[in-house]
Formats: sequence, structure tokens, C-alpha cells
Amino acid sequence: MLKNLHYLNGKWVRGKDLKISAFDITFLRGYGCFDVFRVYNKKPFMLNDHIQRFVKSSRILGLKLKLGKKDIQKIIYKGIKINKNSELIVKMILTGGISQDGLSISQPTFIVEFLDYKPWPEIFYRKGIKVITFRSQRFLPEVKSTNYFQTVYALKKAKKEKAQEIIFCWDNKIYEGGTSSFFANINNKLITPQKDILPSITKKAVIQLAKKLHIEVKERDVFLSEIKNFKEAFICSSTREIMPVVKIEKLILKNFYL
Ligand SMILES: Cc1ncc(COP(=O)(O)O)c(C=O)c1O
Repeated sequence: MLKNLHYLNGKWVRGKDLKISAFDITFLRGYGCFDVFRVYNKKPFMLNDHIQRFVKSSRILGLKLKLGKKDIQKIIYKGIKINKNSELIVKMILTGGISQDGLSISQPTFIVEFLDYKPWPEIFYRKGIKVITFRSQRFLPEVKSTNYFQTVYALKKAKKEKAQEIIFCWDNKIYEGGTSSFFANINNKLITPQKDILPSITKKAVIQLAKKLHIEVKERDVFLSEIKNFKEAFICSSTREIMPVVKIEKLILKNFYL
């Protein structure tokens, strides 16, 4: 992290020099957006989708991204080239900019972090994870905002209950994980929430894969009352890929293949 080279408003800097102003509204109010993807053997995975989602998030928040998609691509390919590690996590971040009154946005700071990939514990994949439900709704769920207040807060409770992820639930429905998407298997069909969630790029990849494997996928409302019918469940995200869920609160899922 500290030794790697990162992009900061037109300059390449080492981790120790990757700094923003304490007057930046992202620091005080959490108003900003970002996106994250994996680089496998120097190749970015689904890069265009991530850049597109990042640009969309910035537009919704009204943050002026001076660079176009092609410029962002160039920065990313350069960062992958000049950093030694071929397995990376790349984070594009757009802050709200320095705020005179602490409430208005200004010219954003654009950062691209190139972080060495650290795998999630192997046991999470082999044995599956426990998740807990968290009654809350994300504000502007289609935006990948820098504000993860609910997730960070709820994950402390998850940790106490020996769970590895939280699942946003509201109005008797399941939405998504704190930093992941959610799928379940009911009667050998994959079901996954469709509305009021982050348009997850891993979810898109999973759906494409499922189609290739002739596994039926239904994007629809998923109700808490259906948990008892789950034969299996998993979460997925860009940094995790697919991680099996074997316990939701106190309920043990039968998870077939583990
Ligand atoms: C709230 C939320 N939902 C879903 C996801 C999964 O998105 P993706 O598959 O694009 O990584 C994330 C990823 O961090 C997330 O933060």
C-alpha cells in the first residue's frame, strides 16, 4: 500500500503522500463516490463496467469528473504497469472537494489507488460464512458512495456474533450485503434482489455464468419469510468473487456442496 504508486489529481505518488485536505467534504460528511475492481495477472476484470458505474455515481452526486472514460482507462493501465504486483485491487475515488461552508461541494479530487491484493481467508470459501440481518435501507443505493456508515457500524455487531457479513433488510425484504450482493437457491433456481441495490458487477458476471450453465436466475424481491426455503445462499463482490453463506442469524442452511 505505502510502497505502491497511486494517482492523485494528475500526479503519481507513493502511499505515504496520498493525502487529501481535512477540509474536503468527503472527510467531514462522507460525500463522495468510488469504485473497486480486481486486477488478475495484470488484467483488469470488467473494467468498462466499473468505469461506467463510477461515472454514473459521480453524475448522480453532481461531482464534476474532469476526465473522460478513455483518460481513466489510460491512468489505470499505466498504474497496473508501473506497480510490481500483478494481483491488485484498484480503487477509483472522487471526493466532494474542499468545502468553505462544510456543506457545498467544489472541485473534486480524483484518486486511483493500486493496492496489493490480499485474499480473503480460504476457510470462508471452504466452510462458508455466517451473515446477520441488519434492518436498514441504503440511501441512493444505485450510487457507490464513500459513505458506508451503516455497514461499518453493523459489521461491529456481526463480528461480536461471529458473522462475516451483514445483509441489508427492510420491509420484510432482503436487499444486499454490506459490501456484497446476495443470491439464494430455492428449488434449484437462483434468486437475487433486483430493486434498490447497487448495480453489482459481480452479480452481472454470476448471472452470465449461470446462463451458460443453464441455471435459471430470477431477479425479483426476496422476502425474509423465504429464508427457510433456501437450499443454499452466497454473497458475491469484486474483491471476494463468490462466497458461500451457511448460516443466516441462527438458521443453518443445508448448502449442498460444502
Ligand atoms: C453495498 C454493496 N452492494 C454490492 C456490492 C457488490 O458490487 P460489485 O459486485 O460490483 O463489487 C458492493 C461492493 O462493494 C457493495 O458495497
